[in-house]
Amino acid sequence: MADDTTDTKSSNQMWGGRFASGPDAIMEEINASIGFDKKLFAQDIRGSIAHATMLAHQGIISTDDKDKIVHGLNTILSEIESGNFEFSRQLEDIHMNVEARLATLIGPAAGRLHTARSRNDQVALDFRLWVKEELQKTEQMLTGLIAAFLDRAEEHAESVMPGFTHLQTAQPVTFGHHCMAYVEMFGRDRSRVRHAIEHLDESPIGAAALAGTGYPIDRHMTAKALGFREPTRNSIDTVSDRDFAIEFLSIAAIAGMHLSRLAEEIVIWSTPQFGFVRLSDAFSTGSSIMPQKKNPDAAELVRAKTGRINGSLVALLTIMKGLPLAYSKDMQEDKEQVFDAAESLELAIAAMTGMVRDMTVNTARMKAAAGSGYSTATDLADWLVREAGLPFRDAHHVTGRAVALAESKGCDLAELPLSDLQAIHAEITDKVYDVLTVEASVASRKSFGGTAPSEVRRQIAFWRARN
Ligand code: ARG
Repeated sequence: MADDTTDTKSSNQMWGGRFASGPDAIMEEINASIGFDKKLFAQDIRGSIAHATMLAHQGIISTDDKDKIVHGLNTILSEIESGNFEFSRQLEDIHMNVEARLATLIGPAAGRLHTARSRNDQVALDFRLWVKEELQKTEQMLTGLIAAFLDRAEEHAESVMPGFTHLQTAQPVTFGHHCMAYVEMFGRDRSRVRHAIEHLDESPIGAAALAGTGYPIDRHMTAKALGFREPTRNSIDTVSDRDFAIEFLSIAAIAGMHLSRLAEEIVIWSTPQFGFVRLSDAFSTGSSIMPQKKNPDAAELVRAKTGRINGSLVALLTIMKGLPLAYSKDMQEDKEQVFDAAESLELAIAAMTGMVRDMTVNTARMKAAAGSGYSTATDLADWLVREAGLPFRDAHHVTGRAVALAESKGCDLAELPLSDLQAIHAEITDKVYDVLTVEASVASRKSFGGTAPSEVRRQIAFWRARN
């Protein structure tokens, strides 16, 4: 690869430094994007083939020249795909690298490809095509993650675990219900992805530098050939817009935030103190010094990738902030942020899908924890409302006294003798013990969206039909 510069000029005394050859080399280094935008080669070639085909159809270039261009571009595509292409930093970016090679391959006809087009609409096209494909990939990966959760939810529709607020035991829930909370989150992420695809589904090519062109081009034809719904409507906006990239990063940041919450729960659940889940060896590592350890590295890294994705979002928002219309070279800095975030997001979703599928759920530990911490106190209060006709606030107060008594005796609510409970409130009967078990507690919560196994199964069926 010819990414290196071969310089003949001498270094500038004042600020040459590592730039052995002076200002020309610095300019080349700051200006060149080929190091990262070569990722866009397939989109660049597809775009150029569609553009040349349209130019010939409109009689702007000859069919003969178009045939040579298309043939040459296909040759370049296979050269790059097979690793037989020399990228040159002197040629700045992917667009000029491809065009220069085309000239070597087919001669003067190559010079006709750039008719009625500028690198400004070309890069907008290539990048949009890339982001669109990435969004489609993200949609599929989210579908896979949702499927993994649906399977675990079905398997554990009845498995009781403590539900938390403030990370303090709140009320018993089912593990299936908890899994379905993530299905809702990743389902929203996926619908954001779908909306973003709709938003960006407009073809930029033909906006030219910023003002459109005097050639009789057909932008609807290129839009269709490239799989876009329609062409963009305003040429100035077209070359200055990077909303599609920012939307991708926003979606990635929100999905990353969801993934990091799951990652954190897995970190907590897999501690010996919780012991709710055991990660497979594939997604954990040992310690080099402490033989007993099994660390949730993959989950920790997913948690960290989220920070990186957030950084990319803020970086691109900041790059675009305050830029005058239309194109400015600042916008060349858009790609690395998106490429890096896309790689992080893909890895994070893949790792999480694997972890969710592979982890062993310790239902006995979950159930034991679900019953501790007076998690059925609300059920006792509800029983007093239902069976003894107490206003909920009074029932809350009575229950509080029962909890305090149990606490002082070092036992669970269900372990308090009936005489103790009756001393707190005379109308309590032994029927109350039916609602103090965690199973009874979850089974009773049949409200729409609630944690009862029957309700969780209904939620699963809803999502199965949509996945
Ligand atoms: N490499 C450039 C980019 O990524 C391509 C567009 C260059 N346009 C220009 N007017 N210099 O933004």
